[in-house]
Amino acid sequence: MSLLEITDLTVSFDTPDGTVKAVNGMTLSLEAGESLAIVGESGSGKTQLAFATLGLLAKNGRAAGSIRFDGQEILNLPEAQLNAIRADQIAMIFQDPMTSLNPYLRVGEQMAEVLMLHKGASRRDAMTESAQMLDAVRIPDARARLRMYPHEFSGGMRQRIMIAMALLCRPRLLIADEPTTALDVTVQNQIMDLMGDIQRDFGTALILITHDLAIVAGSCQRTLVMYGGRVMEMGATDDLFEAPSHPYTRGLLNAVPRLDVPQEMLQTIPGDPPDLTALPAGCPFSPRCPIRHGPCADIMPSLDGFAARRLRACHADREAVT
Ligand SMILES: Nc1ncnc2c1ncn2[C@@H]1O[C@H](COP(=O)(O)OP(=O)(O)O)[C@@H](O)[C@H]1O
Ligand SMILES: [Mg+2]
Repeated sequence: MSLLEITDLTVSFDTPDGTVKAVNGMTLSLEAGESLAIVGESGSGKTQLAFATLGLLAKNGRAAGSIRFDGQEILNLPEAQLNAIRADQIAMIFQDPMTSLNPYLRVGEQMAEVLMLHKGASRRDAMTESAQMLDAVRIPDARARLRMYPHEFSGGMRQRIMIAMALLCRPRLLIADEPTTALDVTVQNQIMDLMGDIQRDFGTALILITHDLAIVAGSCQRTLVMYGGRVMEMGATDDLFEAPSHPYTRGLLNAVPRLDVPQEMLQTIPGDPPDLTALPAGCPFSPRCPIRHGPCADIMPSLDGFAARRLRACHADREAVT
């Protein structure tokens, strides 16, 4: 049994302009301790997928399908049960730590509170454990840092604090949503290295959500490429980078700055992101796809295996794509 099994998940929002379909029949699974990157342009449904998993959808949102965590159905669970899971089993960190940290409370107080509340720890033990966790995310002089306020830390350090807080209750799954997007490139790399170490040391499964393919290479075992709320392609990260099979994946990769490719050779994908209130019946990428043909706009291709542990949803012959 997988740690996380998402089956045919849809997330839609009622809006004055119609129904926004943010996630459209996503199926994926994650084993305990495994790492998966979910990549796609802004608006492809990545955050709503995570929110549906944690029961955090906005009021006008609905989710259908199935999300099983450790065998238990958790989609649309009552708030009280979700709270217990969010504290103990699944943790999430966001792009901007300042939205999750309380600016008026010392870092130690915020961390200790989590352990006192969820684990019934004494204040003293909670402080000790918080210092150990800051140490684990390589914040030097952890004991003294517990007395500091969030604004006294740099952006990278604040993100480390968020990771430490997320790990306090030893969750089995960590979902990191654009955790490095607000940081400069050097700090991004440090945080990604840290996430890799944490995942190994703590045995935590990791879902890394990002629009930035460049940070995925080398950081997650598998990569899932998402567009218009659907899985376009999935596979071992190295394989997917080496031989992308879906035209959307290829488009994304062509737009990633690389040392060996001159800047002017980079190509962004022409066309606009999909209108989520009026998606085609077929492949959501078809209006922008350079190799679309007969069935693409009308029939959604199934997500089929084509090589060891690789899947893609595309009507084109693989020869035509690769
Ligand atoms: N409360 C909401 N009401 C209507 N549309 C929403 C709401 N929340 C998110 N959306 C839409 O859902 C789509 C997917 O959003 P999101 O998952 O945040 O994308 P990503 O994280 O991939 O950038 C976007 O078009 C967004 O505008
Ligand atoms: Mg997002």
